[in-house]
Amino acid sequence: MISTIKNNIHLLRYEKNHDDLFEGCWPINKGVSINSYCLTGSKKRVLIDYVEAGADFDNDLASQGLKLEDFDILVLNHMEPDHTGALSTLFSRNPDILVYATRLGATETESLYGYKNVHVITNGEELDIGGMTLVFYATPNIHWPDTMMTYLKEEGILFSCDAFGAFGAYQSVYDDELTDSEWALLKPETERYYANIVASFSSFVLRGINALSGLDIRTICPSHGIVWRKDPLYVVNWYARLAGYAQGEREKEITILVSSMYGNTLSYIGTLERMAKEAGIVTHTIRIPDTNSSYAIEKAFRSKGLVVAAPTYEKEMFPPMAHCLDWFVRKEIKGRAAMHFGSSLWSGGASAEFKSYAEKLQLDVIDTFDFRGKGTDEDRKRITDAFAVLIERVKQD
Ligand SMILES: Cc1cc2nc3c(=O)[nH]c(=O)nc-3n(C[C@H](O)[C@H](O)[C@H](O)COP(=O)(O)O)c2cc1C
Ligand SMILES: [Fe+2]
Ligand SMILES: [Fe+2]
Repeated sequence: MISTIKNNIHLLRYEKNHDDLFEGCWPINKGVSINSYCLTGSKKRVLIDYVEAGADFDNDLASQGLKLEDFDILVLNHMEPDHTGALSTLFSRNPDILVYATRLGATETESLYGYKNVHVITNGEELDIGGMTLVFYATPNIHWPDTMMTYLKEEGILFSCDAFGAFGAYQSVYDDELTDSEWALLKPETERYYANIVASFSSFVLRGINALSGLDIRTICPSHGIVWRKDPLYVVNWYARLAGYAQGEREKEITILVSSMYGNTLSYIGTLERMAKEAGIVTHTIRIPDTNSSYAIEKAFRSKGLVVAAPTYEKEMFPPMAHCLDWFVRKEIKGRAAMHFGSSLWSGGASAEFKSYAEKLQLDVIDTFDFRGKGTDEDRKRITDAFAVLIERVKQD
């Protein structure tokens, strides 16, 4: 799909197959777009980012009387193959196109596509393409170390690469066109995208936002999701808040992860949800593995409190829950106030494994224990007492 952003500036939007997994692991059953941008200056024709293997923009470009062979410059803000997988085709059809990339981007272009015709940008370097001036800013680690952003001076447009992006498929192109139901999709899908893809790089996100704060940004064109033209600051502030979650500024909410083979561990969750509701605390209950860990990462990332309700399975924690906590280690979902409980029948073991995760995740553990079978009144009291403490911790400023 092609949309005109301004005279001579077009968005090329490719919708990934909803059955695919993003980065080979994240469900995108509600879609995700891969955005590329096409700028036709009076001196040079420029593509900013491209698309994944197997996809192309030939028909979209043809609708503007353009073809791949017409482009002089390809700006690669970042080399991840969701934006570059189809480059072999582009390079074979347009073997002279000059790539603009960071130094690392240049190395990757050669390693991945054997292509050497790359101009290495310097931070703040300008390129006059005829009536439009592009300025390149190195913004490492949002999301890869090679990442840069491209700013169109005359129009105040920031081509921000993965930053300010989102999962989700939207009819609307712009923030000011979003319907209520699209907003309802954009909110969690932006947070899930951030928590899954970007969260580990939050300090770089804040650094990047800071570094770009002097620019007059009137439109943000990310490489996934919608274009922000009415209120670009909205998404900048939103991203700053999300980055803040990684640094400890979290919502007074509790994420309850629950695994249960036969319902014993699960039987306690309703009580906890009611207690939280009475205390005015929002909970997000997620069944593992029924729900993909992608969503657990999203909700736990924003929450101050965490409940891990998981039974014992072959002397250890129920494996899908351990797998989910392993994601938390990798995605640095650390430092939450937390508790664990779970049903077992013999010697237990989930609690011991929870303790080792708690150490890696620097959790502030209120309680963890394995009970037998359905649990006794005492077990129930122990769980609700711990949860009452968790609510108090979450409420604290
Ligand atoms: C495949 C399997 C392995 C189990 N391994 C253990 C174990 O090693 N130690 C233990 O104490 N209980 C073990 N159990 C017993 C469960 O922890 C027990 O049935 C518990 O009540 C299940 O909780 P749930 O109803 O929440 O799934 C195992 C159960 C299953 C089905
Ligand atoms: Fe990326
Ligand atoms: Fe991307």
